[in-house]
Amino acid sequence: RSPESITIDKVSLTFNIHHTTEAGGRRATMQLPHAAVETPVFMPVGTVATVKAVPQHILEELEAQIILGNTYHLYLRPGHEAIRRLGGLHRFMSWERAILTDSGGFQVFSLSELRKVTENGVEFRSHLDGGRHFFSPEHSMDVQIALGSDIAMAFDECTEYPAEYARARSSLDLTLRWAERSKRHFDAHKYERPWDERFAGQTPNLFGIVQGGMYLDLRRESAERLVEMDFPGYAIGGLSVGEPRERTREVIEATLPLLPKDKPRYVMGVGYPDEIAEYARMGVDMMDCVLPTRAARHGLLFTSEGRMNIKNRQYAEDQNPPDVHCGCMVCRRYTRAYLRHLMAAQEPLSAVLNSIHNLAFYLNTMREVREEMSRAAAAQ
Ligand code: GUN
Ligand code: ZN
Repeated sequence: RSPESITIDKVSLTFNIHHTTEAGGRRATMQLPHAAVETPVFMPVGTVATVKAVPQHILEELEAQIILGNTYHLYLRPGHEAIRRLGGLHRFMSWERAILTDSGGFQVFSLSELRKVTENGVEFRSHLDGGRHFFSPEHSMDVQIALGSDIAMAFDECTEYPAEYARARSSLDLTLRWAERSKRHFDAHKYERPWDERFAGQTPNLFGIVQGGMYLDLRRESAERLVEMDFPGYAIGGLSVGEPRERTREVIEATLPLLPKDKPRYVMGVGYPDEIAEYARMGVDMMDCVLPTRAARHGLLFTSEGRMNIKNRQYAEDQNPPDVHCGCMVCRRYTRAYLRHLMAAQEPLSAVLNSIHNLAFYLNTMREVREEMSRAAAAQ
């Protein structure tokens, strides 16, 4: 660890906007301690220090720039202090590019049992062994700092859907008080990250999370209060909780203009390929979703011609690649017939190949949006 007294602060996040579009979209480079990230970016989800079924060297080949890790899971297993002793999450999982960790707020609410929310935090039982645990904003910051991520998230309550106005209001107020506590604790302890002399003076960056349910006035209040607290980036949370797609778009459209133009804006937990492209064109810089990898394990492939269920009989003797317009390492080599066979035989390679193609499709979708923005700027 670096003694705080001799640490010289270096900028830990810069956000350089290259082009903006009429629709509000922007192409930028976000420089983080471990890597530069070209935005808009899709971030594969690596919940337990692995993007399920996809090894790190393949993520590199797919040009994944930043992946997610989850505070809740890594705290339970193998434990954040073990990861700190092993040199941090990057070294532990041998991933040198950027990592964003979610705060555990969302995962405690979606996975754990017998939750009890109080002003101080959330008491819950582990989904692994039923053991009792407590997460507070301060504890979530300690865990994320021990993991050594490039971007940490404030500890929040993801308001359920549907929620009455009064319920969304009190949930939002709690999230704002937790955001203040998150920031205070994070700023006091951020130098306690796993030490790596390459990043001397740099620290993780803490992003705030806008909540407020589907109520646009609450979203506005949430955004304004968080902006006053001055985070280096902002997320829009509380989406993809069962609301219709039209609502998701409406909340994003109403919230984006309330966030600083010169800082990264992240929409958490979305979406289908056409949605992430649409939100990127509206000015969302970062998105993550389990969909490409989760759907892959169920045999659902995303292709340039729409969704394809590879389990379907019609592919039994189909010698085409999964997506005829995809040049990924799976589509260059394997047929639909083979992928269908692997799925039918319940072979682990099925999850591997399906996940690689789906991630390639998501990452290519965002690359195309970035290129489209640059072309539009060049044509002006
Ligand atoms: N992932 C998807 N939605 C959310 C959210 O509202 N909060 C957090 N912390 N993570 C999320
Ligand atoms: Zn492919």
